[in-house]
Amino acid sequence: MRDAQPRTVYLKDYRVPDYLVDSTRLHFELQPKATLVKSQLQVRRNPEAGEGLPPLQLDGVELELLSVSIDGELVPASRYRELPEGLSIPVDKAEFTLEIHNRINPEENTSLEGLYLSNGMYCTQCEAEGFRKITYYPDRPDVMSKFTTTIVAPRQYPVLLSNGNEIERATTEDGRQVVTWEDPFAKPAYLFALVAGDLQHVEDRFTTASGREVKLQLFTEAKNIGKCEHAMRSLKKAMRWDEEVYGREYDLDIFMVVAVDHFNMGAMENKGLNIFNSACVLASPDTATDASFQRIEAIVAHEYFHNWSGNRVTCRDWFQLSLKEGFTVFRDAEFSADMNSRAVKRIEDVAMLRTAQFAEDAGPMAHPVRPDSYMEISNFYTLTIYEKGEEVVRMIHTLLGAAGFRKGSDLYFERHDGQAVTCEDFVKAMEDANGVDLGQFRRWYSQAGTPVLNVSDDFDAASGTYTLTVKQSCPATPGQEEKLPFHIPFALGLLDSDGNDLPLDAEGNTHKVLQVTEAEQQFRFAGLQEKPLPSLLRGFSAPVRVCYEYSLEQLQFLMRCDSDEFNRWDASQRLAFAALEKLQADFRNGDTLQLPAAVIESYRSVLQNRELDPALVAEMLALPSAQTLAEQAQTIDAEAIVAARDFARRELALALKDDLHACYLRLCNEREYSPSAADIAERSLKNTCLAYLAVTQAADAVALAEAQFAAAANMTDSAAALAALLNHAADDVAQAALQTFYDRWQGDTQVVELWFGLQSSSASWGTLGNVRALMQHPAFEMKNPNKVRAVIGGFANRNFTRFHDTDGSGFQFLAEQVIALDKLNPQIAARLVTPITRWKKYIPEMGEKMRAALQSVMDSGNLSRDLYEVVSKSLV
Ligand code: TRP
Ligand code: ZN
Repeated sequence: MRDAQPRTVYLKDYRVPDYLVDSTRLHFELQPKATLVKSQLQVRRNPEAGEGLPPLQLDGVELELLSVSIDGELVPASRYRELPEGLSIPVDKAEFTLEIHNRINPEENTSLEGLYLSNGMYCTQCEAEGFRKITYYPDRPDVMSKFTTTIVAPRQYPVLLSNGNEIERATTEDGRQVVTWEDPFAKPAYLFALVAGDLQHVEDRFTTASGREVKLQLFTEAKNIGKCEHAMRSLKKAMRWDEEVYGREYDLDIFMVVAVDHFNMGAMENKGLNIFNSACVLASPDTATDASFQRIEAIVAHEYFHNWSGNRVTCRDWFQLSLKEGFTVFRDAEFSADMNSRAVKRIEDVAMLRTAQFAEDAGPMAHPVRPDSYMEISNFYTLTIYEKGEEVVRMIHTLLGAAGFRKGSDLYFERHDGQAVTCEDFVKAMEDANGVDLGQFRRWYSQAGTPVLNVSDDFDAASGTYTLTVKQSCPATPGQEEKLPFHIPFALGLLDSDGNDLPLDAEGNTHKVLQVTEAEQQFRFAGLQEKPLPSLLRGFSAPVRVCYEYSLEQLQFLMRCDSDEFNRWDASQRLAFAALEKLQADFRNGDTLQLPAAVIESYRSVLQNRELDPALVAEMLALPSAQTLAEQAQTIDAEAIVAARDFARRELALALKDDLHACYLRLCNEREYSPSAADIAERSLKNTCLAYLAVTQAADAVALAEAQFAAAANMTDSAAALAALLNHAADDVAQAALQTFYDRWQGDTQVVELWFGLQSSSASWGTLGNVRALMQHPAFEMKNPNKVRAVIGGFANRNFTRFHDTDGSGFQFLAEQVIALDKLNPQIAARLVTPITRWKKYIPEMGEKMRAALQSVMDSGNLSRDLYEVVSKSLV
């Protein structure tokens, strides 16, 4: 375990590397407890780094150093210095070959960074700073080197993989296999990968636009070989899309994907050898839900797209992480939008951004898209870097238009191919290709916090002029008290009283992107007959909060008429939010709760609307989640949120039950499963109806869920029915369903994870007692992040009701688990603690209990750097 040295790294301290590594030869002799690593580096003084020959500083963590030689001569141990996290070697020539031998212990590696074992398979995870747990190296992304990798392993590991092309294969005298891989592209160490195991694979081919044949291989354990088809199809779609939309071809003759069960994140874009969390790549209709099918398509594309946005052009330093992540998330989101429903994809992404990223921006770990400092970089793989970073790239796309953006990306790839660059280089390429000035726009990279737009309007009937007044502000965030105005692309339309879009300029455009750049600004629209209704921030054109006083009638009107589907949904959310806010206030005042009939009727008309995409109907029907309500609240009163939301949900279910039932029956069909957008949309609406119906707890509703559970021919329907039973059926019915489900699927890792998650996130079933019991289940494994995320994360992040039990027991439980987990996997521990770091936003009684739980984590002592950073920054 690394200990908590409170060292902070600053962007302003960036210096070019003293030495470059032209080539890297690695030699692995794999053994569970003692893998021998030999590395041979061609080192050269960096001409840009200045005069003299400073000592060579290498990063290294938890390594057993065996020997160091330079140009074939052993360097005595007295000459070099072993540092707590590295090695310092004196240098007397500008070019030399450095050879290092060291040992590592993959079996004991539970951090899942570096080289580790997952179900008997060796695999690596090097981003961000995992390579230093393999061997001593200048482990920074601006040191790019050509890698050649030799793997020696016993026969139980027939598949031996690394980046690039296989160039040699042999057998040793004692019967071990020796395979050598060569990657012709220079890359930083974080993109290195190695896999060794008893794996099966499926294979396919792809012909690139210029006619090159690429071999595609997906490796898994034998039992999962039937779950590869969807990922393979997604990969080919992504390869084609990147050619068509960005003009980017794949560049090696082989592209490999490996599924592993133990993985800290979703997947990793290692050059030519992507490694995936099995949950993010394996799927079959009977075992994976629609949500996983779509997630897999998106993640496979995301990792593939990194080949250009990340690998060919990489990051200069980790402060630039969003350069590759924001851009690549934007690319994968557009890909998903093109493959499925654009509006629904946007709604899902914005709902997540508003709930989780806005909360991050308002919390103790708030940071800009390009942070100024960090203690542990693993803590900065955040929603801000990924999702807000995506929004920033999307705004550039909006400002330049699709063609202008493409000119910019072409220039970016051309200018920087093979380089390690900065966010600034990206923006500069966009500017230069389009002859525009994005000077003020750059503040999106440097200022944290979610801007607020206060919008008011005025209509002068005499002149027919409509005036919008837009005021922007941004709350203070840690280390940034004052903010300067952002450059905000503010898309809008104006509706007449028939619901038609009004022309906004002389050319008759009905959609306009206003350039909001000042703290306060006015925009005028002339020649109008009547006061229009504004449809603001269409398509969510910027990651901001918009405040405008809509009446209930106006929101109903937008829900019905807005030509922007995103804003139809947004109106439904505003309407629900207003109603739920009132219910919360009534609850706190001890008044009787009542859901206005007008609210119920707007939901009824959404439900009866047969013209809208059923997936959009489902999104509009769903009440904002408790987490979303918490994020939007000034002060979080969890009890009031739960009471208000449960009440509204039940009122809607009771009032609409006939419509819900009719809609449910209409959408039941016997078609064979397909993860097409159209079919997913129908299942989504059908199961939304089922969930509402179950809320009534009426015997016929429960019977419907039981029938669907018994007959389900795919996992989407099966899991939805099980969730309905868990949440609303009698205990014995729920218990029986859980048992049936487990008996059937206990051999399937992904389904068991789903089964864990359904229980721990259920308000009725996921009591703290049951969650503790799940942790005793034989299939639970504290060393497996997916299991931890399913059981502990399901409870802390997705079971708002039970986690916020007023006695504070949920917070203490989380603290306890975080402390235990930190000893095994610091990255996961530091992520898991998040819910209790937001204590300041809660009503004092609850906030104090959260803070106490957080303090107990701090007091447990000896925290990893990861956990220390998050906890210490949250306690101030
Ligand atoms: N680069 C990966 C992605 O976004 C992220 C990633 C995978 C990662 N595994 C990691 C980041 C482990 C930190 C640690 O596609
Ligand atoms: Zn990524």
